[in-house]
Amino acid sequence: MNERQTPVHTDRRELLRVAAAGAGALALSGHLAARTEKTPMPHELPPLPYKDDALAPLLSANTLGFHYGKHHKGYVDNLNGFLKDAPDLASLTLEQLVQKTAGDAAKTAIFNNAAQIWNHTFYWNSMRPKGGGAPTGKMLELVNASFGDYGKFKEGFLAAAKGQFGSGWAWLVLDGSKLAIEKTSNADTPMARSKKCLLTCDVWEHAYYLDYQNKRPDYVTAFLDGLLNWEFAEKNLG
Ligand code: FE2
Repeated sequence: MNERQTPVHTDRRELLRVAAAGAGALALSGHLAARTEKTPMPHELPPLPYKDDALAPLLSANTLGFHYGKHHKGYVDNLNGFLKDAPDLASLTLEQLVQKTAGDAAKTAIFNNAAQIWNHTFYWNSMRPKGGGAPTGKMLELVNASFGDYGKFKEGFLAAAKGQFGSGWAWLVLDGSKLAIEKTSNADTPMARSKKCLLTCDVWEHAYYLDYQNKRPDYVTAFLDGLLNWEFAEKNLG
């Protein structure tokens, strides 16, 4: 039985509640009891910034339930497992962990899971109910100065998201005083190279397959037209 055929949980809110509580539960488990000063505090699954059905119908509660409650939570659980054997990385924040392990072949598993935690949290915040369309104010000025107009930005972002072969991410980043569009493969993230990320779109199939099947361009178009959180992008300008 593949993921698409898996029976839907009858109470997804319960699933999300349990998922969000998972990290807290870790702190109360024998996992913590066995912790010494040299082993890492568990990394936590941050709560979704909205309800699991808040982005419907563009992204269904079913998609968010699996994506957040299974995939995102899975990366957190994996990372905490790997870190039990890497006490030298115990004191690092998630960002430091990503940047320190990037490009280190011996730490690929830690990098992949740490980066995926960070990327997914960033992705949830890159969307909001009734978002999307052209930005206003400072972000519109930056979009116009960087790409010509909003239409050109949309075209470029869609092309990057469509053109990412296999799993990965499309990004809006700050490059000097202008905006730039990037794409990364698998768990890779511009943050690993200390770039300032403003927005991201997850183009792994698990992000859209339940709602859009193989039609990634339709998903990315929905993301751009109805979900994009420009306020989050502006906040990230710092
Ligand atoms: Fe994802």
